[in-house]
Amino acid sequence: SVVASTTAPVTLKIRTGWDKTNINAVLIAKIAEDAGISALSIHGRTRACRFIGEVEYDTITEVVKSVSIPVIANGDIDSPSKAKSVMEYTGASAVMIGRAALGNPWIFRQINEKLTHNTVSYFPSRVDLQNIIIKHLHELHDFYGESMGLKFARKHMSWYLSNFIDGKTFSKFFNSLTTIHQQASHIKEFLSNVEVSQKAA
Ligand SMILES: Cc1cc2nc3c(=O)[nH]c(=O)nc-3n(C[C@H](O)[C@H](O)[C@H](O)COP(=O)(O)O)c2cc1C
Repeated sequence: SVVASTTAPVTLKIRTGWDKTNINAVLIAKIAEDAGISALSIHGRTRACRFIGEVEYDTITEVVKSVSIPVIANGDIDSPSKAKSVMEYTGASAVMIGRAALGNPWIFRQINEKLTHNTVSYFPSRVDLQNIIIKHLHELHDFYGESMGLKFARKHMSWYLSNFIDGKTFSKFFNSLTTIHQQASHIKEFLSNVEVSQKAA
């Protein structure tokens, strides 16, 4: 009924099943396809697994073989190389990245490079980092306002700051700041002195 009520494409995200003895992703995928779902994301864990244990990609592979709609593989994809190998292994049309994008949003550009040229050449420069992080901070403040913006900024900035030596110490200090102006000026100052390293893909 959701599909019928809109002209927008409706996508669905599922896990592989209830638990390891009740894997039902292929069945659910077929029901979804019949119901007019446009694309299906699958996190390669069961509901009971929560975030514990290894993701398994075999069920995702089975789903890809069973339906014609695009399937998006998800779970524990934390690098461009892993994205490429999961796409090759499962035959999925795309990958979905969750935790590995936190404080690291340029991973999408790096994955595109890996899939297109089989190499990663983009690593954010100090100027890129300043631009991306400060823009994100301002957008959080603008969108959420001072009270909520301050809190959301603490969460997002701590993810970015975990990339840097001394980031953890600065993060503690950052969390003690109580105005958006303080947050903006101190993050600018920290980023203007930060050491930038290139992480291997
Ligand atoms: C902060 C956070 C928020 C999430 N919120 C949702 C959500 O609202 N709906 C959902 O289906 N999955 C949600 N997830 C799960 C992710 O979409 C994803 O399935 C899971 O994190 C596994 O992918 P990853 O290994 O790339 O993180 C969330 C995950 C995180 C870390």
